[in-house]
Amino acid sequence: MRSVISIPRFEHIPILVRAALNVPIKDGKILDDYRLRRALTTVRFLTHRRARVILIGHVGEAGLPAGRQGTETLADVARALGSHIPHVSFCKESVGAAARAAARALPSGHVLVLENLRRHRGETANDPAFAHALAELADVFVQDSFDASHRPHASIVGIPKILPSYAGLLLEEEVHELEKARTPKHPALAAIGGMKFSTKEPALESLVETYDHVFVGGALATDFLKAAGMEIGKSLVSAAPDAAIKTLLENRKLVLPIDAWVVPALEEGKPDAHRYARLSSIESVRPDEVILDHGPGTAALLAGLAQKARAVLWNGPLGNYENGFKQGTQDFARAVADSSARSVIGGGDTIAAIEDLGLLPRFSFISTGGGAMLEFLARGTLPGIEALN
Ligand code: 3PG
Repeated sequence: MRSVISIPRFEHIPILVRAALNVPIKDGKILDDYRLRRALTTVRFLTHRRARVILIGHVGEAGLPAGRQGTETLADVARALGSHIPHVSFCKESVGAAARAAARALPSGHVLVLENLRRHRGETANDPAFAHALAELADVFVQDSFDASHRPHASIVGIPKILPSYAGLLLEEEVHELEKARTPKHPALAAIGGMKFSTKEPALESLVETYDHVFVGGALATDFLKAAGMEIGKSLVSAAPDAAIKTLLENRKLVLPIDAWVVPALEEGKPDAHRYARLSSIESVRPDEVILDHGPGTAALLAGLAQKARAVLWNGPLGNYENGFKQGTQDFARAVADSSARSVIGGGDTIAAIEDLGLLPRFSFISTGGGAMLEFLARGTLPGIEALN
């Protein structure tokens, strides 16, 4: 990848920058601005050199049903960026006459944020016409959105076919740090939580090759417990117990929870569900219960592994964090922060959990990628990186 540093000329040049702008927003308020703060490095690098920066990105999830796709706006993101750096404006379109006019009028050293790319089907469909409509706004393209580099979208793989393209400073740092995490110092501990086995499967298969212990937590763990023939009550499962899970289960490096906080299924989701929580060994979950977090026995097991580890990699909350079952995730965050291991974490929910505890500075590297981080760990590259090569 050619680095943004090697762009031959900056002053007055319109530069299209694809950045990680996908942050959680509620009622116009940004709930966690970690990605935006990281996106600023490349933006500042370019504005200090008096380039004209046209910032593009998405907000909201891919794969939502038609109608819910791309309804979010980047207006709040532009406002938030404007509180960190001067001269940020927003255009309500991402392509077309209004976007062209705003890009043409942009002074050197200023930043123009265009509207959510996912409002256009051409973005997720990687429509060449949409890529061209974006590319015509600038002379040079900088890819800095590591978080979306696993998506074969127009702003990820389409634009580099048209404009001279470079890697942004954040993208370069992500690749450098995660490459190191692919060949960790030993003993090495990986912890993967969250949901949806299908999205984690390639990373898990790669991690059991390169790490010494691979802990599976959160809702993901119930898929494994079920496949192991254990009672998981009415807990959420994302996958049928298929051959891939069974093969992973046979791997001696795989570590599963040994105890759990469970509640009766009828109480799950109630604001006071904690009152009904019962600590159970992992073998004694009852058919009418739901597993919501791992227990202190598992936390102690993980703390022991983290303490001995020279490298820790972590992606995904280890319990039902969003519904208040936070203890397992928080215990592990503290254990990793206290260990001397090189620690790498990723995934929006995981970062938010660690930020809540004020522990972010005690981690060695915090990836802005969730799915992208897992895919990079599995394959060592991503479509967005290939497109720049
Ligand atoms: C993320 O939040 O992981 C990235 O911005 C990619 O978002 P997506 O999973 O909706 O493509």
